[in-house]
Amino acid sequence: MRKKFLSTIAFAGAAALTMAGCSSDGEAETPDDAATGGTETEETSDMLTVGFAQTGAESGWRSANTESMQEAFSEENGFELVFNAADNDPAAQISAVRNFINQGVDAIVIAPVVEDGWDDVLQEAQDAGIPVILEDRTVTASPDLYAAWVGLDFKAEGVKAGEWAVEEFGDEPTNMVVLEGTTGSAPANDRAEGFNEAIEGSSIETIDSQTGDFTRDGGRSVMEGYISNYGVDGIDLVYAHNDDMGLGAIEAIEAAGAVPGEDIKIVTIDAVKDGMQALVDGKINFIVECNPMLGEKAAELVRAAVNGDDLEPVNYVEDQSFTQEQAAEVIDSRAY
Ligand code: AHR
Repeated sequence: MRKKFLSTIAFAGAAALTMAGCSSDGEAETPDDAATGGTETEETSDMLTVGFAQTGAESGWRSANTESMQEAFSEENGFELVFNAADNDPAAQISAVRNFINQGVDAIVIAPVVEDGWDDVLQEAQDAGIPVILEDRTVTASPDLYAAWVGLDFKAEGVKAGEWAVEEFGDEPTNMVVLEGTTGSAPANDRAEGFNEAIEGSSIETIDSQTGDFTRDGGRSVMEGYISNYGVDGIDLVYAHNDDMGLGAIEAIEAAGAVPGEDIKIVTIDAVKDGMQALVDGKINFIVECNPMLGEKAAELVRAAVNGDDLEPVNYVEDQSFTQEQAAEVIDSRAY
C-alpha cells in the first residue's frame, strides 16, 4: 500500500531561479516543467505509516526494545511510526490495534502482552488489507492471520537457565522460588516450560511460584512474601523470568540481611545493563540473554510484507548466556 502523491515543486532562492526560468504566471518552473509544460510532478513516496502496539514499559528490556524499534522505524528510514504502549493491559492493546486499523496505517507491528485473544482483531486487520508483523512475543491465533514474527526462543532460554541450575546444585536438595513474568504471556509460559523440562529428575524443588509481572517492584514484593513465608534459610535459589524481577529480589534479600548470589543464588533472563552489572557484582549468578534489538528485522519484514514479497514467517534472533566472569568481559561493549 505505497502512498502516491502529487506534489507541486516550487523553487525558492536564487540558485533555483537561475536553474529554472520563470513561467508566464510568475511561478518557478523546474527543468522538467520546461520540458513537459507543467508544474505538477507525480512522485511515489516510499514513506510507510506503521502502527506499533508495544506492551508497555515494564522493564529495562522493554525500554531497549522500544528504542530499537524507534531507531529502525525512523523517518530517515522512510517510516512514520505511530507508537502506542498499552501498560501491559491486553484490552487496551487490542483497542490500540483497532485504532491503527481505523486510521488506515500501511502496516501494524504488535508485541503482544498475552498469547490469547488475538483472533478477532487480527482478522479485522487482514480484512482491511493491513499486514501485521509480530515482534518479541507470540500469539495462539492462526499464523494465517499475520505475515511474520521476529523474536527469541523463550523456551530455549528457560532450558538454558534450568541446565545451569542443575549443574550448579548437582544432587544437593534445593528449594527454589520462581518469579514469573506476566501471566498468559509467551515468555512466562515458555520460560517456565523450558526450565521445568531441564530440571526434571533433579534435586531442585519448586516451593513457590508467583507472578511479579516482569517489573522490579513486582519482583521485590513477591520476594518479600517468599522471605516472610520461608525465611532466607528456607530458599536456595531464585529463578526470575527477567532481570528486573531478579533485581527486585536482590533488594528484598538485602533488606532481610542476607547476601544475594551467595546465601540465595539467582538466575535470570534478559542480560540488560543493570542485570549484567548485578552479575558482575556477584549478586546474580547466571543470566540467559534475551536480545531486545529486534527493530531492524521488524522493519525489513514490514517493507517486504507491504511490497507483497514472500516472507520467512518465523524469524529467530540468537541469544547467548553469561556467567559472572563472562559478564565482566563483555559488559562495557554491550549496546543495552
Ligand atoms: O517479552 C520479552 C520479555 O518482556 C522480557 O524478557 C522482559 O523483560 C519483558 O518485559
